[in-house]
Amino acid sequence: MIFYNPLKYLESKKNSAGWRIWGMIEFKNIRKSFGEKVVLDDVSHVMETGKANLIIGQSGSGKTVLQKCLVGLFEPDEGEIIYDGMSFTDMNVDERKELRQQIGMLFQGSALFDSMTVEQNIMFPLDMFTKNNFRDKLKRVNEVLARVNLEGVNKKYPAELSGGMKKRVGIARAIVLNPKFLFCDEPNSGLDPQTSMVIDKLILDITREFNMTTVINTHDMNSVMEMGENIIYLFEGKKEWTGNKKDIIFSKNERLNNFIFASEFLQDAKDMRMLEAKGKISDDRDMDELLKGDKLD
Ligand SMILES: Nc1ncnc2c1ncn2[C@@H]1O[C@H](COP(=O)(O)OP(=O)(O)OP(=O)(O)O)[C@@H](O)[C@H]1O
Ligand SMILES: [Mg+2]
Repeated sequence: MIFYNPLKYLESKKNSAGWRIWGMIEFKNIRKSFGEKVVLDDVSHVMETGKANLIIGQSGSGKTVLQKCLVGLFEPDEGEIIYDGMSFTDMNVDERKELRQQIGMLFQGSALFDSMTVEQNIMFPLDMFTKNNFRDKLKRVNEVLARVNLEGVNKKYPAELSGGMKKRVGIARAIVLNPKFLFCDEPNSGLDPQTSMVIDKLILDITREFNMTTVINTHDMNSVMEMGENIIYLFEGKKEWTGNKKDIIFSKNERLNNFIFASEFLQDAKDMRMLEAKGKISDDRDMDELLKGDKLD
């Protein structure tokens, strides 16, 4: 950030209780319309550091628009966005540019450049934002490729990669500048359940390892139940519910339940978890014993 007065800079890092806060993203009363259509209606929340913060909701509920508002790709009509205690809304162009270098983004559908190799794709932010020489840039590219378990694919083109590999390359590109904030829009779209879980775990591990503030848009029920530490559920552009994956099990919010536990099978699974948590059935029951004689091959 461009702060000419160091005291003002330190002051800006305090919250109302006087504590220094690092890496948090807070947004207040965000409204966004396109023409007559209200897409975000008075949405407020705090995205916490070192956590996977999830924005969930049906298709069209406003998840992507919210993420784009948070990173400045859309300008909200009303409301305030605060990064690290500093108002993003009030920043000038240079200050925003500086902040953007601390933001990594994995777009819906990976958005790799098809005409560039994996190496060129990942090097792109380094070319844009650093003056490092080619050797240093290549070293960093190889570091992040290793971090996403994709060593040696430098010279391949996106068309030669599987969906899961493309996501990994997208993640590698998103973290190449060592960002404090990571935004992922539907990181699992188009992937099978197992590959989805590998990608979720990778994002979660990276978040913890680098203590990033990670914001993930998803409508994948598995991701919510695996990674949901701080969840905001949007319904038709409004914040309908907030909590974590444990709260979901106990939530009586009908819209949330219909969204997460869409099938009867999943509703039964929720009921079982709730009974377990209330101690009404044992959570270390011996399933092999219970299913004796009923097993299917
Ligand atoms: N640039 C735009 N111009 C006009 N309307 C838009 C624009 N971008 C999004 N919208 C509208 O805003 C609403 C929310 O869209 P958004 O892409 O945020 O949904 P989403 O929750 O991300 O859905 P999905 O799960 O399908 O990605 C939709 O009705 C969409 O048509
Ligand atoms: Mg979307």
